[in-house]
Amino acid sequence: MPTVAVVYHSDYGHTKVVAESIARGAGGVDGVEAVLIAVDELPAPGPDRVLGGRWPELDAADAIIFGSPTYMGTVSAAFKRFMESSGGIWYRQGWKDKLAAGFTNAGGLSGDKLSTLLDLALFASQHSMIWVSQGLFYDDEGINRMGSWIGMMAQSTDDPPEVTPPPEDHKTAELFGERVAHATLRWARGGGRR
Ligand SMILES: Cc1cc2nc3c(=O)[nH]c(=O)nc-3n(C[C@H](O)[C@H](O)[C@H](O)COP(=O)(O)O)c2cc1C
Repeated sequence: MPTVAVVYHSDYGHTKVVAESIARGAGGVDGVEAVLIAVDELPAPGPDRVLGGRWPELDAADAIIFGSPTYMGTVSAAFKRFMESSGGIWYRQGWKDKLAAGFTNAGGLSGDKLSTLLDLALFASQHSMIWVSQGLFYDDEGINRMGSWIGMMAQSTDDPPEVTPPPEDHKTAELFGERVAHATLRWARGGGRR
């Protein structure tokens, strides 16, 4: 069954709950399995360059949705560590032609979230992945309330992750997960990766 992996980092739990909503949306599409993987479960390679933890599961996914909080206008250090740990995969272009998409969560309405999404899109491009944009128009219900196109944005206050980000962002996240899942189905049915 085509698999969508959602790979995320979250220090304080807000990006984690967005990742969960995206995985719920993706996994709700018939014929698609969604897996949620925290970067803490993807240890850096040792001297033997072997990637343990959940790396093999990630490697097997048909699509990967990358998610990081925005810290200082870019991805978090832990997420960057994950990006650099994928260097061996990059070297053999092991993720070439997998689908990719990205999301971020930050304290500010802007908060320079676009910069984080651009970093994620560039990272996916270095891996020769096929980028899936957000694809949701903003509306009066608060879907895509920050008007992002390249990837999905959520915004949290300092309240606990049980109450922030708001329901609109969770709904946006679910729809975004669905979109990537449908794209994955089409990609897999059409032959997918060469
Ligand atoms: C070190 C650090 C840097 C941050 N930098 C930004 C930033 O550049 N823009 C922003 O809007 N929020 C920034 N924030 C706020 C976080 O994006 C926000 O608290 C987010 O919800 C944290 O996600 P998490 O709960 O998944 O860790 C920063 C927070 C920390 C701890």
